[in-house]
Amino acid sequence: MRIDGIELKSDVVFAPIAGYSDVGLRSLCARAGAGLTYTEMVSAKGLMYGNEHTEDLLHTTADEEITAVQIFGSEPEIMAKAAESGELEKFDIIDINMGCPVRKIVSNGEGSALLKDPALAARIVGEVRRAGKPVTVKFRIGFEKNSRTGVDFARIMQDAGAAAITVHGRTREQFYEGKADWDYIAEVVRAVQIPVIANGDVFTATDYREIKEHTGAAGVMIARGALGDPHIFSRITGTPFPFWTRKETVLEHIRVLSGFHSEVYVCNNMKKHIAYYCKGLRGGKQLKLDAFAAKSLKDLIDTVSGSEVLDAPFAEN
Ligand SMILES: Cc1cc2nc3c(=O)[nH]c(=O)nc-3n(C[C@H](O)[C@H](O)[C@H](O)COP(=O)(O)O)c2cc1C
Repeated sequence: MRIDGIELKSDVVFAPIAGYSDVGLRSLCARAGAGLTYTEMVSAKGLMYGNEHTEDLLHTTADEEITAVQIFGSEPEIMAKAAESGELEKFDIIDINMGCPVRKIVSNGEGSALLKDPALAARIVGEVRRAGKPVTVKFRIGFEKNSRTGVDFARIMQDAGAAAITVHGRTREQFYEGKADWDYIAEVVRAVQIPVIANGDVFTATDYREIKEHTGAAGVMIARGALGDPHIFSRITGTPFPFWTRKETVLEHIRVLSGFHSEVYVCNNMKKHIAYYCKGLRGGKQLKLDAFAAKSLKDLIDTVSGSEVLDAPFAEN
């Protein structure tokens, strides 16, 4: 798959996930074969004003061969300035969030609120393109439950100069309820010439094959399916993954994060991840409780290292 002349090593990409797509998980997903990795959504205003929490989200490793930074905001000039800022120089692609359903974001006219103002959304794309990088847009198929505007919106994004779009097959009102509408994503694919990345409810390699076939999309994005399971990209792409067990993977996740963040940060962040790494496993609930009780990073590493629960290999499909 190509995005504006950038060739990706595979057509399956790791999603922006606030609170989860940290540099550690992105590194693991890229090593497992993800062709593109995204930072979580980063505030354009935060970038402009040098917010220290914003910088925390922008670390990358050489494992991620092609990286996208996802920004959000509603003011075209601020978005453009953020896109041109030095902190984003290392990223290959700038993605704009037009899908976030969270009330606080929507009430500021950001995220999925932009689905209701396509003219403003188009101006934002035009302004962000001034940074000279491929600009992509991630959005949902509509705002209200019964009003699907995604096809028209996709055409408008294409005309505004978007190099590719990612379509999550749910409306804003749905949040994460119901099933992602792959039929509607197929309609979007038919309506535009730029690459479409299909997104929603891909949890196995079989799902990946089915969504590709169903929608005809150029690429597939995985979010929740990669939480606690970066190996999913290996099952899809056939890329050999260097870690056999979840335990080895968790320890590597900690090692990468520790190269960038304080022990307290790594410890708190990894507790959330460990809840996913042990989800559904026999003894997983107890391990999760033990992990959350850890008082330091060393404590957490000892808990993980001593646990047989995480000796389990990853799923096979
Ligand atoms: C906890 C959480 C945080 C998310 N954060 C972002 C984000 O920062 N930017 C974004 O575009 N989408 C975000 N998403 C949406 C996902 O990228 C994706 O579109 C959605 O989960 C559907 O894909 P999936 O079925 O593979 O999970 C988030 C989703 C979850 C569950």
